[in-house]
Amino acid sequence: MGGSFSPQEELERIAAEIRSCTKCPLAKGRRNAVPGEGPADAEIMFIGEGPGFHEDRQGRPFVGAAGQFLEELLASIGLSREQVYITNVIKCRPPGNRDPLPEELEACRPYLDRQIEVIKPKIIVTLGRYSMARYFPGASITRIHGQPKRVGDIICFPMFHPAAGLHQPRWRPLIEEDIKKLPALLEEARKSASSEAQGDDGNDEEHYEQLSLF
Ligand code: URA
Repeated sequence: MGGSFSPQEELERIAAEIRSCTKCPLAKGRRNAVPGEGPADAEIMFIGEGPGFHEDRQGRPFVGAAGQFLEELLASIGLSREQVYITNVIKCRPPGNRDPLPEELEACRPYLDRQIEVIKPKIIVTLGRYSMARYFPGASITRIHGQPKRVGDIICFPMFHPAAGLHQPRWRPLIEEDIKKLPALLEEARKSASSEAQGDDGNDEEHYEQLSLF
């Protein structure tokens, strides 16, 4: 299948499929599907929960109040949203912003799997419970937020959802502290990618130890 497409074209193909998807009932209620956005070679991928009102209107992820806070968090570490890939576990808005149902998550899962496969991010930041559950099944966000874990070639970094910081002021400083760990984590990921590229695969354990220091 398709070996002649560039990663950006491949992402566009996935987005086109998402926009015409009818695999679950959320398709009927959407104004726009929200595939995600950002460069195909992004080193960091943020995965939220699902589109809300504004995202459904605009067909873009994280454009409401939570998105504004996410942009502030990114700015605090010298990044803009254009430098990272931003998406969600489900691509269509659940009615009334209810939690996604298991069958909706299941129907949408292959799209996110394929986006990750194309982008090959060094770091995946999970925002909130549903994306956290992919990599940290059964974990509690209050216990594991800000603690990275290596999953294969990817460093997974669980954070509170930015909306949690807006609704619960006590989480806000924790979110602001957690994001500050990203630059060092990215450095670590780059080093480990370049040593792997040089065939030095002997110290995974050491990297794991270093990561767990955060
Ligand atoms: N919340 C999410 O989880 N995703 C969005 O795109 C917007 C708000």
